[in-house]
Amino acid sequence: MSIHRLAVFAATAVLGFSAQAQDSGQLNVICSVQAEWCNMIQTVFAKSTGIKINMSLKGSGEALAQLIAEKANPKTDVWFGGTGDPHLQAAELGLTLEYKSPALPQLFPWAQQQAAQSDYRTVGIYSGPLGFGYNPELLAKKKMDVPKSWADLLKTEYKGDIQVANPASSGTAYTMVATLVQLMGEDKAFEYMKGLHKNISQYTRSGTAPIKAVARGETAVSISFVHDGPGEKMQGFPVETITPAEGTGAEIGSMSIIKGARNLPQAKIFYEWALTPQAQQFGAAARQFQLPSNKATPVDPRVPDFKKIKLIDYDYAKYGASAERKRLIAKWEKDVNSLPR
Ligand code: F6P
Repeated sequence: MSIHRLAVFAATAVLGFSAQAQDSGQLNVICSVQAEWCNMIQTVFAKSTGIKINMSLKGSGEALAQLIAEKANPKTDVWFGGTGDPHLQAAELGLTLEYKSPALPQLFPWAQQQAAQSDYRTVGIYSGPLGFGYNPELLAKKKMDVPKSWADLLKTEYKGDIQVANPASSGTAYTMVATLVQLMGEDKAFEYMKGLHKNISQYTRSGTAPIKAVARGETAVSISFVHDGPGEKMQGFPVETITPAEGTGAEIGSMSIIKGARNLPQAKIFYEWALTPQAQQFGAAARQFQLPSNKATPVDPRVPDFKKIKLIDYDYAKYGASAERKRLIAKWEKDVNSLPR
């Protein structure tokens, strides 16, 4: 049985729905994880519940921008995945619905905390640390060392060989900005990002594009979530990951129901389903290796081991606040992105 068919079978068995579920309406989902996971969710959920998902794939920052634009007339019911900061911002802006899942006690404290600090307008569904992706073959060919620290990325040898996303569209890149500010203090972090800018070949729209470019030998190094490495490696690409010696931040990937959702009963069914261990296993089945938020979800050995990583005490409330996120992104545009390279 293929992974996909197995997943459908598991979901239907667990939820007790017939595999030939009746038409039970539809649901509009913005999905901010990678396409393979979004597609799997769409298929499995429809087969097991009869609810058709209209799926739109968007990076975290782009998803938030769409929800802001739709505020008066929401077309989205659920926002699934993407970094937690813009979900918190959406909560603060009144774009998401307060909803307290009975499954909350089954979740890790970090996922419950994400819910509590948004007054239950979002919830943590996974977590993963920020680090670097690198192509060992390309590094060897170019006689470059594996970067081990944030400081290393400033070395001239990497000029034109580092990619990261744009923090306005990508939650991954915003996590980098917020992490550096927390690690170094704001002034030093911006000086650092100006230095880093000289070595960047491209700021991509999507947070996962840089590690895909590394995997395909288009650039030697990326700043990426380290859980996005193993999926590329499984496809046969030469890619490894490392977390920086000085310390790094982690995301709390989140899920929110949109205020004014037109398909609210279906949205709640989806939300509950997405918090079950059975549904959370589809991440790894789709080759994505974030740490799932339900304590009972089996953890794939390829999920990064948080205990081995030097993590900062990321202030999610502060860096998910609307004014702070907007201010830091505007400052990055003005002070960093506008500089010549
Ligand atoms: O789907 C992979 C992933 O790294 C998620 O863990 C994360 O929430 C999301 O991408 C962020 O994507 P972006 O940086 O494009 O907003």
